[in-house]
Amino acid sequence: MSGPDLSVNIAGVRLKNPVIAASGTFGYGSEYAGLLDISALGGICTKGLTLRPRTGNRGERLHETPSGLLNSIGLENPGVEAFIEKELPRMREPGPVIIANLSGEDIDEYAEGARLLDAAVDIIELNISCPNVKAGGMAFGLDGEAAAAVTQAVRRTAPHTPLMVKLSPNAPDIAAVARSCAAAGADAFSLVNTFKAMAIDTVRRRPVFDNVSAGLSGPAVRPIALRMVWELYDVLRDPVLTLNGGERAKPVVGIGGIACANDALEFLMAGAAAVEVGSATFARPCTMIEIIAGIEKYMRQNGFTCTEEICIR
Ligand SMILES: Cc1cc2nc3c(=O)[nH]c(=O)nc-3n(C[C@H](O)[C@H](O)[C@H](O)COP(=O)(O)O)c2cc1C
Repeated sequence: MSGPDLSVNIAGVRLKNPVIAASGTFGYGSEYAGLLDISALGGICTKGLTLRPRTGNRGERLHETPSGLLNSIGLENPGVEAFIEKELPRMREPGPVIIANLSGEDIDEYAEGARLLDAAVDIIELNISCPNVKAGGMAFGLDGEAAAAVTQAVRRTAPHTPLMVKLSPNAPDIAAVARSCAAAGADAFSLVNTFKAMAIDTVRRRPVFDNVSAGLSGPAVRPIALRMVWELYDVLRDPVLTLNGGERAKPVVGIGGIACANDALEFLMAGAAAVEVGSATFARPCTMIEIIAGIEKYMRQNGFTCTEEICIR
């Protein structure tokens, strides 16, 4: 008997299973080559890319909290052109879908980065949700109008590449941001990026991070992220967005504290078409491989033939 079909379709791109390495936690894939079978993954999101190279933030960049991780990396990356030249050919070899996480300080930088990435990668994940940079980043993801403007600009310069907008859990009205981005041409959404948070070093009597705040990820955020994915699923099924039922609802990729198959199943049940796994990979590099095996086992036990059957909505 053949096994269940774990493949999923995100905006017309087929992933062999619904497990994707989250941006900023898996480098460009090759860094983990000796630790796990990268070819087994559904997809890999790159570290956040910007048109110009960035050295990232000074001072502390990572700080552990109970059940969570604070980071303030500041989008250190070699720039889009160097990524395409040096990293992309190596990334292509193992076979998972390649998702370029794109950021920028202003709309022009996003648009030009997207133009270079267009058709070079399988999906662009538009990062309008990074809380760790002073200009751009999360600022675009907090407000529907700003989010729509950057989505529209990138849609125009990267017409051949499916566009997944990575939403911020820090937006006061996530539904409004998602609706604006959908109308501006987003094909899919991923949620959540990190939660704005902070820590204080009580010995030095000052904030741990030079920027004061940082982004919280890991198991601590999972129940909140799950609730947000559940709600976004409903928003994207609003008949106004799906042209009175004529267009398929745009898929959501669930992210936030996923560390085992059961966590991933919760997101798939809530309506996510796929999941991204981030912080958990730092502690146990094989986490994603175990999650894929656990999802397959669950599908067999329940007699499911495709991943959509996991959804309880
Ligand atoms: C060290 C670190 C770096 C990150 N860098 C990025 C990034 O460059 N772009 C981005 O969109 N998200 C970035 N993220 C956010 C993750 O992709 C993910 O959305 C978030 O950590 C929640 O998932 P998790 O709880 O599984 O880690 C980063 C997270 C961490 C921990």
